[in-house]
Amino acid sequence: MKITKINLVNFRNYSSASIKLGDGMNIFVGDNAQGKTNILEAITFLALTKSHRLGVHPNVIMFNKTKAKIKGVVKKDRIISKLEIDMLENEKKLFVNQTEIKKVADYISNLNVIVFSPDDLEIIKGSPNIRRNLLNIQLSQISKVYLNIYNEYNKLLRTRNEYLKVLFQNSIADSSYLDIITDKLIEKAVFIYQKRKEYIDLINDSIDTYYKDINGNQGLVVEYHPNIEFKSYESEDIRKALKHYYKKNYKKELNYGMTLVGPHRDDFSFLFCEKDLKFFGSQGQQKTAVLAYKLSEIPIFEDVLKTSPVLLLDDIFSELDLKKRNRLLKLIHHGIQSVITTTDLKNINKKYLEDAYIYSVKNGNVERK
Ligand SMILES: Nc1ncnc2c1ncn2[C@@H]1O[C@H](COP(=O)(O)OP(=O)(O)O)[C@@H](O)[C@H]1O
Ligand SMILES: [Mg+2]
Repeated sequence: MKITKINLVNFRNYSSASIKLGDGMNIFVGDNAQGKTNILEAITFLALTKSHRLGVHPNVIMFNKTKAKIKGVVKKDRIISKLEIDMLENEKKLFVNQTEIKKVADYISNLNVIVFSPDDLEIIKGSPNIRRNLLNIQLSQISKVYLNIYNEYNKLLRTRNEYLKVLFQNSIADSSYLDIITDKLIEKAVFIYQKRKEYIDLINDSIDTYYKDINGNQGLVVEYHPNIEFKSYESEDIRKALKHYYKKNYKKELNYGMTLVGPHRDDFSFLFCEKDLKFFGSQGQQKTAVLAYKLSEIPIFEDVLKTSPVLLLDDIFSELDLKKRNRLLKLIHHGIQSVITTTDLKNINKKYLEDAYIYSVKNGNVERK
């Protein structure tokens, strides 16, 4: 899959921009605060209908404007689709080939991206919800069923939590309704646990090889941690463990007014030689581990989607030392489309730049060199 063109109107610091992208490497070069990351953000937005950035204002409409637009042309084999997102302050509309798509789940598979950004160190250092969010975004991109079941799980979870509060306050309320919700919740949970476990197993098929390719060392494993133990990931074992838990901890959950166990409390960690990188990794090891994780997603996406995702790498060169930069470029040089931002091209091996599209970015203007 390739994104061949992108158009922006009033998106962050772009009043209007029209950018043609090459099938291979696309590199956006510019000083700080010129709009490089904004371009990657626009592509992510077009793919996922939301920003991937942490710690920036979620409103992407240009200051003092009331609406914005992102358009893109995506080529998958010989099929061309035109994607468009129109944004008003509290509303966004999604279009594929000029037809409005009402459900995000029906839109999302049109453009698949894997993003690596400097914020991603948080995937190792930050709270579990950052890691869960990552799993959800990626699993949703490759499985519409996952996205739908995940949304249904969240709805049931809210209902269950509300009903726990009702039961706590009102002793004559009917607790059999809670059992009905709990059974439904368990069925969704089983599916989510199994999909996440399967995904992390697939990551482990290649993460250590990528880590070694970039870093030279070996021994990286991702470990999945549901907050409850199962005998195995067979449906019946998960079901049994959850049923047992909810029954045994009924009073406790009543007191908290909250469902305390389930995939909404999942986590995973990065172990290097059996030590958690969150506590024992250097910044360099953490960065490389996240990068290896993202690269491991490429073959998973390719396998499911039968096409390569688009790789978006923000400020990648300042994130890595010289040797690692060129090793990374070697890894992504073939077949896959990438969009990279950087403040300079110093020390980049010329052979990687020969067939790349190179753009300069200055104050919300993009020009191809
Ligand atoms: N909603 C917005 N409207 C206009 N400009 C914005 C908006 N949000 C961010 N900016 C501007 O975008 C610029 C930062 O762009 P960014 O892509 O993060 O820069 P960099 O080139 O360093 O990656 C800043 O000048 C910032 O003021
Ligand atoms: Mg930036």
